[in-house]
Amino acid sequence: MKEEFRVTPWEVSGKIDYSKLIKQFGVSKLDKELLKRIEKHAGELHLFLRRKVFFAHRDLNWLLDEYEKGNKFFLYTGRAPSGAVHLGHLFPWILCKWLQDKFGAEMWFQFPDEEKFLFKKNLSFEDVEKSLNENMLDVIALGFDPKKTHFLVDTKHANLMYKEACKVAKKITFSTVKASFGLNDSSNIGSIFYTSMQAVPAFLPSVLKKKKIPCLIPLGVDQDPHFRIARDVIPKLGYDKPALIHNVFLPPLSGMGGKMSSSESNVAILTTDSPKEVRRKINKYAFSGGRATIEEHRKKGGNPDVDVSFQYLRMFFEPDDKKLQKIYEDYKSGELLTSELKDILIKKINNFLAKHQKKRKLAKKQISKFLYKD
Ligand code: TYM
Repeated sequence: MKEEFRVTPWEVSGKIDYSKLIKQFGVSKLDKELLKRIEKHAGELHLFLRRKVFFAHRDLNWLLDEYEKGNKFFLYTGRAPSGAVHLGHLFPWILCKWLQDKFGAEMWFQFPDEEKFLFKKNLSFEDVEKSLNENMLDVIALGFDPKKTHFLVDTKHANLMYKEACKVAKKITFSTVKASFGLNDSSNIGSIFYTSMQAVPAFLPSVLKKKKIPCLIPLGVDQDPHFRIARDVIPKLGYDKPALIHNVFLPPLSGMGGKMSSSESNVAILTTDSPKEVRRKINKYAFSGGRATIEEHRKKGGNPDVDVSFQYLRMFFEPDDKKLQKIYEDYKSGELLTSELKDILIKKINNFLAKHQKKRKLAKKQISKFLYKD
């Protein structure tokens, strides 16, 4: 039987059923009790938590127990440079920035610049280097505290990371990697080793400080298989398993399943897109829940539940619950037309990107402040 959907670190396809994925991956649902625990400490809940963009976790209760005992956690997430950053990439990073502010957390951000080099056929290190610098600007633009945020670039911090990666690698067999990632005997041996590099930042701060420090990793759910392995190995090295909090995917504009991906630039909004480009892409490609004609739409109403523009507003761009509800109802009743709904979204995205792009420019001078210096 053909799978209805597939989620691995290298491939996301089909219409994803997140309840099924929770069972498949063996992660836990991010439930109301846990959200309340977060809210108790943060004083509020980020939009991504309220609207279930983050939907699953591993060991978050343990992490909060530790926090309540006065044992502060650090944050870890990453980006494998291979092209431009799109809006979906920002989910875990924006939550990290919020958690840094609310919990005073240190942040370790990994740029595994060898990852896509190893996994993509025609990508050179020169291409990766260009994306690396551009991608760093996007992370800095989100407003992380440079005193509390450390960038690790695998090839530049190899002196610090490689020994730890070897300790991880020694405890993982080839058959585990084959089973977890679908690699096989013809996979290149760099790709087989790679997961050990992604495990390192989850315990590197503990190595450096010579004590166990709890770690929380916000990440897209496609990255979970890496940490399923890492969580088995890290205790064997004498450190605590990292906790995880998983986000769903921002769908592609086409609404066709899978995830927004930079390699299909017409169905992705890039952080560097101009206002004109955003307008063009949304008007042309954003899947609509509207009817074939205005008359029919007015009479029968649209379907906001399948409408991609509405999903983007819900997941990201309309924080006001009442305004969102009104848009939902107006679209459903036919009062709001597809062109008008798209217009609301276009303005919101362009407003967000104008600010982001300004901060990206300013970030150019800041990169060295963020690169970890040992
Ligand atoms: P990468 O560079 O492919 O993606 C960076 C992060 O963005 C998430 N993501 C998405 N989230 C929502 N909607 C989408 N459409 C979407 N597309 C991508 C990814 O899940 C990821 O969290 N191997 C990693 C880099 C990495 C990493 C980490 C990620 C290194 N260490 C620790 C998370 C945590 C990668 O290739 O991500």
